[in-house]
Amino acid sequence: MSILLAIESSCDETSVAICNNGKITANVIANQTIHENYGGVIPELASRVHQQNIVPAIQQALTIAKVNKKDVNAVAFTQGPGLLGALLVGVSFAKSFALALDLPLIAVNHMQAHILAHFIDDPKPEFPFLCLTVSGGHTQIVLVKDYFDMEIVGETLDDAAGEAFDKTAKLLSLPYPGGPLIDKHARNGNPLAFKFPVPQIKDLNYSFSGFKTAILYFIRDNQKQNPLFVEENLSDICASVQHSIVNILLNKLKKAAKQYNCNEIAIAGGVSANSGLRKALIDAKESMGWNVYIPAFEYCTDNAAMIAIAGYHKFLAGDFVGQETSPMARMNF
Ligand code: KG4
Ligand code: ZN
Repeated sequence: MSILLAIESSCDETSVAICNNGKITANVIANQTIHENYGGVIPELASRVHQQNIVPAIQQALTIAKVNKKDVNAVAFTQGPGLLGALLVGVSFAKSFALALDLPLIAVNHMQAHILAHFIDDPKPEFPFLCLTVSGGHTQIVLVKDYFDMEIVGETLDDAAGEAFDKTAKLLSLPYPGGPLIDKHARNGNPLAFKFPVPQIKDLNYSFSGFKTAILYFIRDNQKQNPLFVEENLSDICASVQHSIVNILLNKLKKAAKQYNCNEIAIAGGVSANSGLRKALIDAKESMGWNVYIPAFEYCTDNAAMIAIAGYHKFLAGDFVGQETSPMARMNF
């Protein structure tokens, strides 16, 4: 029997989950709307809101899961990577909770947890599988050999795919985070209306900084001709940008599948909520003969359920940390 309490606070979501014998029985996510008007996450504000959210989120998760805090067997928390001040709130709370109730502590890598979210529900991928992890801070192709035996075989050399979405949205005067809004407008647009350059990067790596600059010039040049260009073409611009980003992501994923002779293919992270990327993966199931694994929406963007399931597998392996543990802004696998 094991009841785990898990805390996620690496960026702008304060989330608490309960995992009862490998089953998620609560996944409370307190979103921070304070950053909307700033065009990006303000780290100091994120830390302060985490402090306000964390106690109510813990209480709510325990209530939903019908668990008394005295029945919790271990506490899992996101150690990194992420914003140091934001992580500090979750790590400090986890340590205090564990100290007060004399519980073991489990440190979880946020990027590994995004991937391990595939082990919450069925169908679960079989090892080894390839996972395209696409979030606001990372874009990685990961060869997953076992729960905690992962190798990054390709990654972005500059911006992440989520940043490419968010920065494009900013250029289009859409609020932060713009990824979901681009997705929404793209539904009514023509994906082939405009063409953007495809980055020529070696191996299985990505680059999105040149792509972002190309969009900046594209908007600026068109607005010179027609000041209402963005307003009049918003859906087509969003559909074309989304189509280009998804193509860039899929091309390298196909290359990786071939190189590693692997047809177990998963996507994870906030951008895996994108309807264009989800559809491209479903199409590849037919055209490439892949077994594809697409997370439920609630497990794409940041959440503590993924920290809980990663924590559960560490709990089974007896992988605990002590009270001297601290958050890490950067963290390798
Ligand atoms: O995994 P996540 O919640 O946080 C990080 O660990 O970074 O990912 C957030 C990123 C943001 O860039 C957000 O714009 C993007 O995921 N995102 C989307 C969609 N939903 C979230 N991007 C495109 N389409 C979406 N539907
Ligand atoms: Zn994340």
